[in-house]
Amino acid sequence: MKRWTNLALFLLLGLAFVSGWVAFFYATAPSRASLIVHAASGYAIVALTPWKSVIAARAIQRRRPGWWASLLFALLVLLSVLAGILHSTGLLISAGAFTAMEVHVGAALLAIPFAAWHIIARRIPMRAVDLSRRSMLRAGALMAGAGLTYATGEAAVRVFHLPGSERRFTGSYEFGSLEPSQLPATQWMFDSVPMASTRHRTGQA
Ligand code: HEM
Ligand code: HEM
Repeated sequence: MKRWTNLALFLLLGLAFVSGWVAFFYATAPSRASLIVHAASGYAIVALTPWKSVIAARAIQRRRPGWWASLLFALLVLLSVLAGILHSTGLLISAGAFTAMEVHVGAALLAIPFAAWHIIARRIPMRAVDLSRRSMLRAGALMAGAGLTYATGEAAVRVFHLPGSERRFTGSYEFGSLEPSQLPATQWMFDSVPMASTRHRTGQA
């Protein structure tokens, strides 16, 4: 189970990363399909926590060089998942200067060097058994469970009328429709900050 868990995490992290960016780039219908894959891979990562915790707890006792970097990596992944769920449910869309989505993507980007280091430093060689029938069945069960969790979450957001039920299929929230002064202005890198968007961001009238 140890090898399988680490290998599954490897594939799921890659899937979550790629599907997140694909959703950003499309911002139209394919976005939703990508976000379903995205959310399911995120929940599958969470579902592996009990197994990964056992692996990590044992490994930490051995204090291999860089063990603290793995812990930091774990914190960043958890922060990213938490912020993703806060965004999707709408329970906390922004806090202070940052939106939950900025924290979500920011934490994931910060996690990249740690992920690369972790995978190289704690390398696991591929074996034929990784493609066995049992491994595939486990993977199928994991993804089915994660998909069901996501579907239940989406249904709950609607049943309880959480703010997340108002978001677009791309995951975006409405932002100043029909109020031109609130719409984000086009701005080049070295332009001064436009007044309308400054006022909106700081919440002034
Ligand atoms: C969500 C992603 C992951 C998190 C949060 C995570 C976290 C951790 C932590 C905290 C440890 C214990 C500290 C240490 O020894 O460095 C650890 C150990 C380890 N991890 Fe990960 N890890 C993740 C993904 C992976 C992946 C993708 C692989 C392999 C491809 C992997 C392979 C290992 C191995 C082999 C160990 C050492 C086990 C041992 O020495 O018994 N991990 N991981
Ligand atoms: C460590 C990598 C990542 C993990 C584990 C992860 C996981 C998640 C999870 C669990 C959610 C909540 C899904 C829901 O309940 O609807 C979510 C939402 C989201 N994520 Fe990620 N994510 C990661 C990285 C990224 C990246 C790099 C991007 C974009 C570049 C991204 C874009 C999004 C978007 C747009 C949503 C909102 C979906 C919606 O509201 O329907 N994610 N993510």
